[in-house]
Amino acid sequence: MKIIHISDLHVSSPNYNPEWGKKVRDHINTTKPDLLLITGDLTNEGHIHEYRMWQNYFSQLEVDNCIIVPGNHDARNDGWELFEELVGPRFPTWENDIVKIQGLDSSEPDLDEGGIGRDHYEKIKESMSVKGKVKIIMLHHHLIPIPGTGRERQIPVDAGDVLKIIAETGVHLVLSGHRHKTWMWKLQDTYFITSGTSTSRRLKGRSYPSFNIIDIDDGKLTITEVNVEDGSKTTKLDGAVLNIE
Ligand SMILES: [Fe+2]
Ligand SMILES: [Fe+2]
Repeated sequence: MKIIHISDLHVSSPNYNPEWGKKVRDHINTTKPDLLLITGDLTNEGHIHEYRMWQNYFSQLEVDNCIIVPGNHDARNDGWELFEELVGPRFPTWENDIVKIQGLDSSEPDLDEGGIGRDHYEKIKESMSVKGKVKIIMLHHHLIPIPGTGRERQIPVDAGDVLKIIAETGVHLVLSGHRHKTWMWKLQDTYFITSGTSTSRRLKGRSYPSFNIIDIDDGKLTITEVNVEDGSKTTKLDGAVLNIE
C-alpha cells in the first residue's frame, strides 16, 4: 500500500511557491497513491477566500482516498468552522484491510500551540484498539520536540496524555507537520514522522520543500522523503518490521 503524506501547503501565504505546488500536484497525480494524508495548514489565516484557494488546488489532485486534519493556521478567524464545512470532519477516521487511521484536530482557534482534549481520549483508544492492522494517528502538531526549530512552545498541551494512549494502544505511526521540517523519532514501538512543508518558503536554514512517501508491504514500513524542488529522494526508513497484532 502506498501513502503520500504532505503538510503545510499554506496555499494563500505570500510564502507559497506555485511552482512547488505544481510539482507536488504532478507527483501525486503520477504516483497515484492508495491514500493521500494531509496534516494541516492548508491555508494561512483560515479566511473563506483562502479556503476557496485550497479547494481550487485540491480539485487538481487525482486521488481516490484523502484524509485531512486542520492546522493552527486553518483554525484562525473561525476557520475551523469553515474547515468542517468545506474540507471535512476535524476528527476523521478511515480504514481498509491494511491500515486504520485516526485523524485528530490538534488546533485551537487563534492559538499557535495545540491540544487534543480529554473528551477525545476514549475515541482514540477505541479507534486504535483495532486488531491486525497498521494503526496510524495523524495530527498537525508534533507530540515530541523537533530539533533545530527554535524554542519549544507549541507542543499540544496534553501531549503526555496522548503519548500514553499511543503507547498503550500500540499505535505504529504518528504523522504530523507544523514545524516545516522532516523528522523522525521512534519511541517504544511507534514511529513519529513529521513532514516538511511541501510548498512554502518558510523553511528552516538550508532545508528544502518536501513530503513523504509511506510504503507498507507485508507489515514492513518504508519511508522516503521527496525533495519537491529537485525531485531527489532520500530513504528515511527501509523495510522496518511493524509489530502487528
Ligand atoms: Fe505551517
Ligand atoms: Fe502549523
